Amino acid sequence: MMNKTLVGLVGVTAFAALILAGGKTPAPPEPSLAPAPEPLAVEAASSDEPVVPVEVSAEARLREKALAAGLSSLPSTLIEPRDNAITPDKIELGRMLFFDPRLSASGVISCNTCHNVGTGGDDNLPTSIGHGWQTGPRNSPTVFNAGLNIAQFWDGRAEDLKAQAKGPIQAGVEMANTPMQAVATVKSMPEYVERFTQVFPEEQDPVNFDTIAKAIEAFEATLVTPNAPFDRFLAGEDAALDETQQAGLELFIGRGCTACHSGPNIGGRSYFPFGLINRPNAEVLPPEDKGRFEVTHNPADEYVFRVAPLRNVALTAPYFHSGRVWDLKEAVQVMGHAQLGLALSDEEAGKIVSFLESLTGEMPSIAYPELPAETAATPRPTL
Ligand code: HEC
Ligand code: HEC
Repeated sequence: MMNKTLVGLVGVTAFAALILAGGKTPAPPEPSLAPAPEPLAVEAASSDEPVVPVEVSAEARLREKALAAGLSSLPSTLIEPRDNAITPDKIELGRMLFFDPRLSASGVISCNTCHNVGTGGDDNLPTSIGHGWQTGPRNSPTVFNAGLNIAQFWDGRAEDLKAQAKGPIQAGVEMANTPMQAVATVKSMPEYVERFTQVFPEEQDPVNFDTIAKAIEAFEATLVTPNAPFDRFLAGEDAALDETQQAGLELFIGRGCTACHSGPNIGGRSYFPFGLINRPNAEVLPPEDKGRFEVTHNPADEYVFRVAPLRNVALTAPYFHSGRVWDLKEAVQVMGHAQLGLALSDEEAGKIVSFLESLTGEMPSIAYPELPAETAATPRPTL
């Protein structure tokens, strides 16, 4: 598992470099799974040179420590996907599809139903409710900043957002549609056909399941939430984190959370067993969901999940893939026990929560799109 994790990290580093080439954020340090070193600006002199004492503020030292532990800022622009050139028209088309409930069999469920961009990019339910009021097996993760993750879903089974977008349209418990019917629906509306033709000029038959997924991915690439207080702190604004948040950041690094939760999305780029040290109870970790094992069929991957990204985590309760923990402080304590073998006190967990609240960024403002009207050729909804 370790090997795969490391390979994954190398991939993500290359990916991050790609993003940074487009964005304007400073390069993050190499991600590392090793516990954070203790970087201090003033080092013991090892030569005969006189020691020059340097005044370093507590904030500057904490900032150094955070960067050395692999924490980094979010890009403030697009999260550029692989193999899918982004254009304004493609983004606009993707926005329409993201909000269009007619991609579902019932005609009432859109991507935004479960990834509501007004409520943190998720649905605030333990596990999502989809077609025919069915409850799915897992909690809906946020779509914000999702392009930064190593792969999509709690178990990483989709390699990127365009692969991911095909899942929910077809999933029986989500939108319960078929690719053919989704394509027929889109094709039945001339405005969509015109837009697809414009956005995908190289395609013989521009409206197809792949181009639908690519357009949605282009829109999702814009769902970035920059300038969180934590990013401003990293950029040098000492007062962006108050004293409690700074203490929480110290604990987040010092107690070892950053061994897994690092990078610009504060997680999302490696896999670990949920219950690395102590297995959580069956309520929090339902035995029937074996996580990544279902993807790789490798027994070492039983109960392995992608490290959850923690950007905007204060907005995305309830927590874990099971969605069984509503209180963020409790989720932090579950993590301490399960992943690190630590009993975090209420006070410590409270400080960490204050730090996690500083990961809430600026939400992109997204206008609700005007969608083309159905025609006689549009497949009728089935409930
Ligand atoms: C019925 C609710 C529902 C609908 C509708 C839905 N999703 Fe999801 N989405 C989920 C759930 C639940 C998961 C997690 C599933 C898993 O990990 O197995 C998920 C996962 C994702 C992820 C992965 C995020 C990550 O961090 O791994 C993305 C991206 C996403 N959905 C986008 C979409 C798009 C785009 C659509 C529309 C085409 C859509 N979803 C429709 C519930 C839904
Ligand atoms: C060994 C790796 C590892 C360590 C160390 C670790 N985590 Fe996690 N964390 C994970 C994984 C994996 C998940 C996803 C668990 C699941 O399947 O729901 C997760 C999930 C979370 C979640 C839930 C997020 C959500 O959206 O549901 C929070 C909050 C969290 N971690 C905080 C912390 C804190 C705080 C610490 C330090 C006390 C910490 N983690 C230490 C691996 C780790």
